[in-house]
Amino acid sequence: MIITLLLLIIPWIGLTTSQIPNPMRYQVSFEGGSHYAVDKIRWRLSSKICSSHETLSSGCSFQEIYVPNEGRTYNFQLTTANPCIVNRGAFLKYIDIWPGIVDKYGGENKTYDKVIFDNDCDGPCLTWFTQHNETIYTFMNYQSRLYIRQADSRPIKTTSTIYDLKTGQLFSQTENKITYWSLDEIPDSKFKFPIDTKKCYFA
Ligand SMILES: *[C@@H]1O[C@H](CO)[C@@H](O)[C@H](O)[C@H]1NC(C)=O
Ligand SMILES: *[C@@H]1O[C@H](CO)[C@@H](O)[C@H](O)[C@H]1NC(C)=O
Repeated sequence: MIITLLLLIIPWIGLTTSQIPNPMRYQVSFEGGSHYAVDKIRWRLSSKICSSHETLSSGCSFQEIYVPNEGRTYNFQLTTANPCIVNRGAFLKYIDIWPGIVDKYGGENKTYDKVIFDNDCDGPCLTWFTQHNETIYTFMNYQSRLYIRQADSRPIKTTSTIYDLKTGQLFSQTENKITYWSLDEIPDSKFKFPIDTKKCYFA
């Protein structure tokens, strides 16, 4: 009985975790201080960019909220003379950040490139790899890798490595860790305007 269940479950796990998750609803934060709350089921989208001395709970000076039933994007820049500017239309790729990352690594139907054991993954991560050469202004090879934890499909980080194409030497190596990821229902508070919209300039 248990074996039958495992036989049924294992292929299903393999199928669902061999691709990059591309959910309709997600919250993601990156270690640099950007936070995104995207719900394409109920169509509510918000992004917050915090500077290094700000935290999500104390408020972030830069925030964008797309309000679909108004067809408008509210841009809050709380520390400037124009703290709120409202534009017509959607600037979705800045707020709905994840599909752009999925595309960069080959799209949601691309099977992972290889399994890597990494401390940040607490075990195996499925990884997707992409590279390109820049030969016009510089002469460099750019490599990036996306890490998704195999056990629960949680995105862990992206890494970028740049090599000098002439010498083959490592030029730089950076990591961008994903500090928060959730597919749960997003609380209304995430989509609340940070200031009274009477202060907004409607462009
Ligand atoms: C991925 O595959 C599914 C199922 O075959 C398909 O419905 C979907 O359109 C594909 N997505 C892309 C981006 O090709
Ligand atoms: C970049 O250039 C290197 C060295 O010429 C080559 O081996 C590699 O395949 C190139 N990569 C791409 C994506 O064109």
